[in-house]
Amino acid sequence: MEAKRVNIRNLPQKYSYLQAWVYDYLIADHALNLHAYILEYAKLADFLAKQWECSVLDVGCGGGQSAIRLKERYPHLRLTGIDLSTAQIARARQRAHRKGYALQFEVADAQMLPFPEASFDVVFSFGSAKHWPNPLKGIGECWRVLKPGGELLVADATSDATKEEVINFYRISHFPRLFEKLITTILYERLFRLACPMETYYQIAAQLEMPQGTVSHLPSLPVFLFRTQKPQLPGSHQESVVRPNPPR
Ligand SMILES: C[S@@+](CC[C@H](N)C(=O)[O-])C[C@H]1O[C@@H](n2cnc3c(N)ncnc32)[C@H](O)[C@@H]1O
Repeated sequence: MEAKRVNIRNLPQKYSYLQAWVYDYLIADHALNLHAYILEYAKLADFLAKQWECSVLDVGCGGGQSAIRLKERYPHLRLTGIDLSTAQIARARQRAHRKGYALQFEVADAQMLPFPEASFDVVFSFGSAKHWPNPLKGIGECWRVLKPGGELLVADATSDATKEEVINFYRISHFPRLFEKLITTILYERLFRLACPMETYYQIAAQLEMPQGTVSHLPSLPVFLFRTQKPQLPGSHQESVVRPNPPR
């Protein structure tokens, strides 16, 4: 069974220079408010705080704002971000450099991640999956490079969104209230319609044999969420990724 494909006629896979600029300077900082909300909802923040050596991959990282925010909050993380847009990766590298953080940012396709399997303790992706022509492949790649026992979080728009959910998304992101009516109407009638329905994501989780309950429609938000821990291999004696805190 092939998962339903996104209509990409109006949804660019690769951001043009202008789209990348607009996203980076007008939207990305607002998106951080939504990311913080989702991280708390997904209880990933507690997990990240407890880790000692923890490798984290941000898929479709844009200008690196999310990865850098995580590094500020959890300095022990080893963060890597990938994105298809060279302009965004250049901005991400500059941002990390200005802050003095040794983050790794690479141009790559979510649907063909350039990492061996079981490479990361955490794989997350915010707002990128709707652009992947084959979300089954992209989410499959996130799953492949995640270590057994590692944590997965993939969140993006669903076409099953209601208008109220889109308004809630706009408010949680702290976009200017002045434009709320206009922008939420455009988002609801245009952008969200181009994303995949929840059914596609349920099918993807089933095809990838992810644990029951991995996929949910976030309460009151126009967002799907993949949130699960990758099961340990049967009979494996692998060390759990939850390690003791480092000695002080
Ligand atoms: C809406 S932005 C989200 C950026 C960032 N994750 C955030 O939440 O602020 C979507 C990003 O996904 C990237 N993207 C689209 N298709 C991709 C693909 N196949 N592989 C990697 N990145 C992709 C775009 O270049 C863009 O930077």
